[in-house]
Amino acid sequence: MWENLEIGLEKADPAQLKVKPAQENLGFGAHFTDHMFLMEWNRQKGWHNAKVCPYQPFVLDPAAMVFHYGQAIFEGLKAYKNENGQIHLFRPQDNLERMNDSALRLCMPRLPVEKVFKGLKALVYLDRDWIPTLPGATLYIRPTMIAVEAALGVRPAGHYYFFIIMSPVGAYYREGFSPTRIFVTDTFVRAVKGGVGHVKTAGNYAASIMAAEEAHKAGYTQVLWLDACDRKSIEEVGTSNIFFMIADELITPPLSGSILPGITRDSVIQLARRRGVKVTERPITIDEVIAASADGSLQEAFGTGTAAVISPVGEFCYQNHKYLVNNGATGPLAQWLFDELQAIQNGLQPDPFKWITRVG
Ligand code: COI
Repeated sequence: MWENLEIGLEKADPAQLKVKPAQENLGFGAHFTDHMFLMEWNRQKGWHNAKVCPYQPFVLDPAAMVFHYGQAIFEGLKAYKNENGQIHLFRPQDNLERMNDSALRLCMPRLPVEKVFKGLKALVYLDRDWIPTLPGATLYIRPTMIAVEAALGVRPAGHYYFFIIMSPVGAYYREGFSPTRIFVTDTFVRAVKGGVGHVKTAGNYAASIMAAEEAHKAGYTQVLWLDACDRKSIEEVGTSNIFFMIADELITPPLSGSILPGITRDSVIQLARRRGVKVTERPITIDEVIAASADGSLQEAFGTGTAAVISPVGEFCYQNHKYLVNNGATGPLAQWLFDELQAIQNGLQPDPFKWITRVG
């Protein structure tokens, strides 16, 4: 199926290269590099037409199935360039493997991971001048697969595009690494077991927007999601996984089918354990967090994700009551994890878990 996958290279005309934005004020996902990776799948040829090519728009039939039934999956990873000019990717194969898990759930074709990895590295190297070097700024990479067959029957499509685009980014939240304010919703739910909450599919994010908008209107950065049945067990925060440091235990909800198996989540678990922190993956209710806030054992809370990295929670609001976490300040564990992760990602510290891939 994959023998057609030689990777072509079409470079952008040097006269058409874009002007790169200033690194100080990149925001998130507002600028895109000069090139992209693109390949197609159909039943006859499998994956084919793989190429690194100039960043370009698609012409899609209005009946393309992605517009109607949402067969769309994606990933997020980052490339880093350190002061020695070394380029690194963080756990890229884990992202591609997770994308294959998403593909399986949505009846989409599996990716040839090794070949895509080759294409990804070629793309990053070609657009290496786009990787920001300012501390905190990185190149965000977005692999995506969509159903492009023009048809209105509800069934797996027979034609897909897989593409990778890249965007130089600053911090995901306006707050940067400063503590965020979180609104705990018991009105909306994100996912239910047996559904697609554990899958990185576009519909999960579409369904989250209304709750996030309401949280923003009320002055909060993001939403803390509770489970769909009892609206008590904590699931995720915004687009990130969540951790609570209570007494001497770092707690994060288990991968029970309705939350995303975050790669940053897994990295944080491994880093914290190596530091000697007791990390427990177990259900945790909002009532337990409130009780810990009341008795003073809630030390820290933070979200983890590729885009947000580590995002400390300084305050949360539940049923009209506000609770400060660590007096609204970043906690020492969140700070250590942020520094440690960034140092490993930038190749400025040993990489004991072999998470880094060098490019070039
Ligand atoms: C990521 O952290 O990479 C994500 O996918 C979150 C994104 C939706 C901004």
